Amino acid sequence: MSLSEPGLIHVRGLRRTYRRGQVQVDALRGVDLDIPTGAFVVVVGPSGSGKTTLLHLLGGIDRPTEGQICIAGQAIQGASEAELTRFRRDRIGFIFQFYNLLPSLNALDNVILPLLAKGWSWKKANPRGQAMLQQVGLQARARHKPGELSGGEQQRVAIARALVVEPAVVLADEPTGDLDSVTAREVVDLMAGLNRNLGATFVIATHNLELCRHATHVFEMNDGRLVVSTKG
Ligand SMILES: Nc1ncnc2c1ncn2[C@@H]1O[C@H](COP(=O)(O)OP(=O)(O)O)[C@@H](O)[C@H]1O
Ligand SMILES: [Mg+2]
Repeated sequence: MSLSEPGLIHVRGLRRTYRRGQVQVDALRGVDLDIPTGAFVVVVGPSGSGKTTLLHLLGGIDRPTEGQICIAGQAIQGASEAELTRFRRDRIGFIFQFYNLLPSLNALDNVILPLLAKGWSWKKANPRGQAMLQQVGLQARARHKPGELSGGEQQRVAIARALVVEPAVVLADEPTGDLDSVTAREVVDLMAGLNRNLGATFVIATHNLELCRHATHVFEMNDGRLVVSTKG
């Protein structure tokens, strides 16, 4: 990719086929998309339409069967395992439906874990983690473990953890899927606020259409294809 190519995320002809024995599933059947820096992208579509597969490919968790992905100058398809690991650690923040916090660590230690993995000292990471907890309104709960927090609070901690490394892209897979509607709305508003205030780029797969209110782009998937793409 040339440096003059516009956009933070550039995807062309993306295909992912899963094979098990005689069974072949075409999870993505040729997806093209471009996402600029600072976007708030919402990916909608029925179950099985390929949303999670797309996020895994964008985040370097999985590799395409065919096609090109370039994110913040990193071409995924040509990258070695070591390069992909570094890319995931330094440039991507992940938010999951079920939070995926470590139950034995308190909120602050969960948030700073990605910094420690990058080689930061605890002393250097600690104030940064505190500041992130403040961004998500949980500075008073820094010493609490996930089991002592509500679902919405745990997702706030997970959002702080995803953003602590200042990633190029935050990928969220059904981030409100386990929350009641009031708490879901708070988490939606929090992500939209962080997008505006920190300029973080979000790509969010969801069934929650409320997220679309905040979207700069809505991508609708069906059967492994992008069928509609709208600009907010
Ligand atoms: N590891 C896998 N092995 C085989 N098939 C898979 C695998 N992961 C996903 N699929 C299939 O790929 C299709 C897309 O799945 P997914 O990306 O999870 O969709 P969504 O997130 O929109 O529900 C579905 O048919 C699903 O069954
Ligand atoms: Mg999914």
